[in-house]
Order: sequence, then structure tokens, then C-alpha cells
Amino acid sequence: MHIRTFSLAFLLLAPAALAADLTGNWAAGSPGADGVTRKTYFDLKQDGARITGHIRAGQFYYSIKESTGGAEGFTITGSMMDTGHKERTVKYEGRLEGDTLRIGTRRRPDAPLAEMTARRAPAGEGAYPARLPLPALHKVPDNGLARTPPMGWNSWNKFAGRVDDASVRGMADAMVSSGMRDAGYIYINIDDTWEGGRDAQGNITTNKKFPDMKALADYVHAKGLKLGIYSSPGPNTCAGYEGTYGHEEQDARTWARWGIDYLKYDWCGARNLYTDEEMQAVYQKMGDALRAAGRPIVYSLCQYGFADVWKWGAEVGGNLWRTTGDIRDTYDSMEKIGFAQDEHAPFAGPGHWNDPDMLEIGNGGMNEDEYRTHMSLWSILAAPLLAGNDLRDMPAAIAAILMNREVIAVDQDRLGKEGRRAWQSGEQEIWVRELAGGGRAVAVFNRAAAPATVAVNWAELGIPKPSGARDLWAHRDLGTGETQSVTVAAHGVALWRVK
Ligand code: GLA
Repeated sequence: MHIRTFSLAFLLLAPAALAADLTGNWAAGSPGADGVTRKTYFDLKQDGARITGHIRAGQFYYSIKESTGGAEGFTITGSMMDTGHKERTVKYEGRLEGDTLRIGTRRRPDAPLAEMTARRAPAGEGAYPARLPLPALHKVPDNGLARTPPMGWNSWNKFAGRVDDASVRGMADAMVSSGMRDAGYIYINIDDTWEGGRDAQGNITTNKKFPDMKALADYVHAKGLKLGIYSSPGPNTCAGYEGTYGHEEQDARTWARWGIDYLKYDWCGARNLYTDEEMQAVYQKMGDALRAAGRPIVYSLCQYGFADVWKWGAEVGGNLWRTTGDIRDTYDSMEKIGFAQDEHAPFAGPGHWNDPDMLEIGNGGMNEDEYRTHMSLWSILAAPLLAGNDLRDMPAAIAAILMNREVIAVDQDRLGKEGRRAWQSGEQEIWVRELAGGGRAVAVFNRAAAPATVAVNWAELGIPKPSGARDLWAHRDLGTGETQSVTVAAHGVALWRVK
């Protein structure tokens, strides 16, 4: 009897045990210090020696296109179409241990495996949502904001996921005490990682780092500053937090209620639902939503310059649009981005600007000559000036670069005409920006790693020989003879305002 029961139990259990393969929906992830759980889902189907299915990891959603092994040890390679029609792949290595999956990726093939524990999740949990119907295209009226390029500060370059209420308040205080506000830097922009989730009514919530966004906005406003925020049209932001997908009008109303003055809207997770060609309609949807929310909110498009955004950014109500991928705090990154902006110039103007990404000035990866080049080039480009350093702790030399009012005046020139490359010879370039009142800003850049002397031929630049000039870094008027030739430091710049 005893034996029979045992064998019966065995018979009942055996098929399940044999079927204990990888098939199922697996979820990994535990709450971070901000209280938010960003889950990774593996929706797997094992069919003998073949594993298929999907991997959803933050902003990414992959189809499994290759696999090796089985429950005792396997690899799966996921593939997806990235923004710009490029394939992106990821490879996970895992094994089944009892009823948990130990699974991870490597940053590089030779890097250690970053393992997670995934547990069985109900079927359908984490399933990627469907596309939303896209509106017909129309022109979103100009919101009247950003008549000159926005100036302020953004949290991402220095703080990334570490931004919180206290650091934003600290930055607002420092914006005032350092003199930055009075030099024109008005927006304090919170980038990704403020998001919590959604309440029962679907309202977006903040996470533990931001206990009361409205109170924070009140604090920032009381200092004569404005507050910016960040989201994505996709289900997830770039850092994998809650996106605005399906809640466009609702989120715009929430931000308006909180007192938000600026929105950076980052493509990221939206790439899994829409093609690059559909970006315009997706961005238009938020342009309309902001308008309907009834508060003046600067609208910043962040889709890395795909789909010729400069041609339609203003049509969707955008006040600025990123023209490139992310900047890093190196001369190489800054120069690669900055000197590639020439062809976008005709599309900028009052209310709608090209955005070659935020400033890295003061973050430590470039020397002062290079940071002066960064500031000069961005000003010639009529680019938004969004400082990305810690303003609470700014060396005098960095403050002098960010607060050079003569350079800021070039950036903020009310004619709003973006400058262009006027001359180039090897690693030396001259860029010219037309200014209100007939003057011009002239920047002589030396991209070489050693100082160089550049002879300036005004006829070749297509402008009359100036009757007067001022050196905007030396803060000194120049004799006309001094504009014939100039020696520029390695990776440096001479920036003049000429009459
Ligand atoms: C993208 C953007 C960055 C920043 C991060 C935040 O990479 O381009 O500027 O907003 O997302 O996750």
C-alpha cells in the first residue's frame, strides 16, 4: 500500500518534472533604493534544443533569434530593431536551479557575468503593450516660448540616477548664489529616474527620491527659476522607468498641475512600437497634449536626430530637438558632435532650436581650453546652454566659462540665426554667426593637438574686413591688425565679435 502510494505519486509528478524546462514567463528584479522595481522579463518557450520567445529589459524588447543548450545551461541571443534601423542584439547566459532561473549578461564578452534571479511570473505579465493609433499630422501652433535658446541646468550628465529632491534644491540655491541665474540660466531640469509608477487612476507618481514634486516646483519658482522634467512616449524611459505611453494627456495635465515648465521627451521604449518614420506623429501627440494642458511648457524632443527631426520638430510644437546621440565628457565626443552641426543651421530660429546635447563643462574630462571650445561652439550654434555639472561646487575657472556674459550674448542673440562653418583647412576651422544689428561672431577653432596660427582672410569668409573687433574670452577690444592672424591653443578657440 505504502509502496503503491509512493509510485502513484511518482507517476503523477514525473511528467511535470520531465517538463520542467525553460518554458514560461520569468521575471527578475528587486526594488532599488528609490523604491522602484525595474523588472526584466524572459518569456520563453523551449522546444527540444531550441528556445524562442522574448526578452523585455527596461527600454529594450528583443525577439530570441538564437539559442544553445537547455535548462541545465543555456544561452539566448535576442535581436531588435534599434532607432535608425540598426539591429541591436543581447546575449544572456542562464541555467535553471530548482524553480528559479539564474540568468545574466556580460557588458563585454570578457566581462564577468552580471547574474540575476528570475522567478516564474503569471503568463502575460510584462507583455509588451500594443501600438497606439497615431494621429493625422497637423501643425501644432507655436507656444511662444524659447525665443532664444533655453538656458539652465540638467541633472543627467553629472548625476544620472542619483538626482533627488535635495540635490535639485541644492542646485536651485547654487544657481542663484553662483550668479548663474542672473547670467540667464533659468531652467532646473530633472532628467530620467524621478518616476515611480501609476496610481489607481493611472496618474504618474514620483519615486522615493522626490516626495513632493509640486513642493519642489514651488521651491524652484520662489528662486526665480523654472522646473523641467523628463519622460518618454514609450512604456519605459531610457533608464527603464515608467514612461508616458497611453497617458499623454493625463501626464501633461499632471505636470501642469505640479508647475512644470519644461519637458524633455525621450524616444527610447517607443522604438519597440513605432518606426522612425512615425516619430513625427508620436511627438505631435505630446505637443497637442502640452498645449491642451494649458501651462506654458517648453517642449524638448530627444530622439537623437533621426528622421530629419530638424525638418518637422517645430511642426509638432517642439522648441528644441536633439540632433545627435548622447554627449560624453571627452574632447572627442564634444568635437565629434559640435563640428558636425553645420547642415542643421537653416532649421533653427526663435522658438525652435537644434540641440547638440547638454554641456559637460566642469565635469572634469576636458581641460579649460577644451571647455572654452565647447562653450564657444555651442554659442555659435545657437544651442541650448544646459549646464551639466555640480553647480554647488564649481571652481572659479569653470564659473568664468559658464558665465562669460559676452559669449552668452552670442548664444542668446535675438536674431536667432545659427552659425555655420565658413572656412576649413585641415584641423583649423572658422565658424561665423550673424548677429542682430549687423555684427558677427567669428570663432577660430584649432582641432589639432598642438597650437596653430591661423591667417584670417575676410574676403574668403565672405564678410567685409571688420572695422572693429572684440575678443570675447580675453574681454579686450582688438586693433584691426590683430584680426589678420591668430595663434590658437591646442583644441582651443579664439572668439570674436566683429563690427
Ligand atoms: C537618453 C538621453 C539622455 C538622458 C538619458 C536618460 O540616453 O539621450 O540625454 O536623458 O536617456 O536615461
